[in-house]
Amino acid sequence: MAEKKKLSVSAITNGTVIDHIPANKLFTVISILGLDKLSENRMTFGTNFRSDRFGRKAIIKVSKKFFEQSDFDKIALVAPKAKLNIIKEYEVVEKWEVKVPEEIIAIAKCMNPKCVTNHEAIATKFKVLNDDGKISLKCNYCQKITTQEYMEIIK
Ligand code: CTP
Ligand code: ZN
Repeated sequence: MAEKKKLSVSAITNGTVIDHIPANKLFTVISILGLDKLSENRMTFGTNFRSDRFGRKAIIKVSKKFFEQSDFDKIALVAPKAKLNIIKEYEVVEKWEVKVPEEIIAIAKCMNPKCVTNHEAIATKFKVLNDDGKISLKCNYCQKITTQEYMEIIK
């Protein structure tokens, strides 16, 4: 029984733990943060851990990596309840809950093939709609709504 207390993914010494990601969004978060391209940092991740809030959650731990505000916004679009824990010398020294931004600029693509942003060098701009954790994006230029399934992040 004491076995159950063991961490399912090892603790890290320095870096960031992204916790409370919906289980099925693990690889989306890895991809939108470009973590699949990291060449130096040690990274561990897992999914389908038990969570009080989701039923099942995923977690990502990246050593020696600290994220920026634009990364927080990207995470919030697919994992609006994610928490980032900053680890220094083995301790959680800061804890951030991502906040779904009201507006995003140059972060996602518009799903409307006819949208001007897909034909001219214009930064995309969306109003972010949050329907109880289900995020969709309303384009500032064509007014079309890009739903979660069609969301493509600009890297
Ligand atoms: N963690 C880690 N390495 C450390 C310290 C913490 O990987 N050296 C991880 C923990 O496994 C946990 C997350 O960082 O997934 C947050 O740690 P902590 O705040 O101690 O856990 P909880 O209180 O459960 O966090 P929450 O606020 O999400 O409830
Ligand atoms: Zn558009």
